[in-house]
Amino acid sequence: MPSPFTPYLGTAPKAFVGREKEISAFKAFLKDAKDNKPSSILLIGQRGIGKTVLLKYFSGIARQSNFCPVYLALDESSATPPTVARRIFGRIKAVLEDEVITLKAKRFLKRIEPKLSVKLQDMELQIASSLRSEEINENNFVISLGRLLSNRQVCIFTDETQSVLGNGVARFMVNTLYSELPEYASNWVFVLAGIPVLEEKILKATPADRAFQKMELSGLNTHEVTTILQSTVKGTNVRFQKEACELITQDTQGMPYYIQFFGDKLFDLIRTAAVTKDFYIKNRNSVLKELGEKVFAARIKDLEKRGLYADVLLQFAFLDCQEGVSANEISTKISSYPGPYIKELEAKGMIVRIARGKYRITDELFKNWLCKKYKPRH
Ligand SMILES: Nc1ncnc2c1ncn2[C@@H]1O[C@H](COP(=O)(O)OP(=O)(O)OP(=O)(O)O)[C@@H](O)[C@H]1O
Ligand SMILES: [Mg+2]
Repeated sequence: MPSPFTPYLGTAPKAFVGREKEISAFKAFLKDAKDNKPSSILLIGQRGIGKTVLLKYFSGIARQSNFCPVYLALDESSATPPTVARRIFGRIKAVLEDEVITLKAKRFLKRIEPKLSVKLQDMELQIASSLRSEEINENNFVISLGRLLSNRQVCIFTDETQSVLGNGVARFMVNTLYSELPEYASNWVFVLAGIPVLEEKILKATPADRAFQKMELSGLNTHEVTTILQSTVKGTNVRFQKEACELITQDTQGMPYYIQFFGDKLFDLIRTAAVTKDFYIKNRNSVLKELGEKVFAARIKDLEKRGLYADVLLQFAFLDCQEGVSANEISTKISSYPGPYIKELEAKGMIVRIARGKYRITDELFKNWLCKKYKPRH
């Protein structure tokens, strides 16, 4: 039997667990939007913590509450105000066009209420009279988007949002969502998701942190990790014992991606028995080894191609301490000023700023692997 685990980024897990707090907050935002109070939300969390999967889950909830969900993953190619405006507008328009087609099909299959028919006509007209996405620029974006969204419940999710926020995009987005769009339409919820650097980039662009509601995803607790492992193997010949789940929680820091990875490897190793504490302790190193070879080696190789990034990252791993490591400490170890490399590593989510000028690799497993593999022994 193939493993039921999903150690793949962005893939909905067999057992979706936890995130109750975020889900109930999201439902409250939908309710507000129904009452003409729009919301902009920052959903932040480390790589592999479950942002994309949660957005997909939110999408389902939004649909159930009669909102039209629009998901888009952003990337560096839209890192200016006009390109990001075109990208967001284009995606929303395309989704609404699809919605019209679905409604038409429904009408064809069975007569739908006259009220819906009128709504359908309105929708078609509104979409047909809106600008083409190629015509969108930073000046006509808000009014065009406002028209498209007015009288309609829409929930927009932008994933990987940190990747577009250079070149004045952060300020442009803040102005759009906070001050301007609510004047034209009010039944929307906008969720900007990304790694922790997203928050800093947004806050730099706005003095008002009240412009955005923040949701920060953290690792799952022992109970939740146990539920993922045990529910995922239901219907197979594999079992996960509680004590093993406790150790897996510690080792993975409750990070969903690693839970799926560990579950997957252990499933393949044991096949038709229970993963006990002893079995886990015996096999833990081989799971970690495979994680290193499959995931971490590729990460560091990618950085090595581009000069000093890997050296700077390694120093963060070697010097790591609770208070974080500063650029100055790193600069004594490498040949040039590490400032720009640090910024880039942060933008990629490899290190996180924990205090003014102090950074850490927050991913314990990655850090331990780097030390084990590269730390010079004396
Ligand atoms: N609530 C959850 N319960 C169980 N598994 C989860 C949950 N959330 C995420 N996962 C699993 O964890 C992995 C990572 O999830 P996801 O891709 O959403 O992370 P991410 O935060 O978007 O990462 P990245 O920043 O790299 O895009 C996936 O394999 C997914 O199946
Ligand atoms: Mg993601």
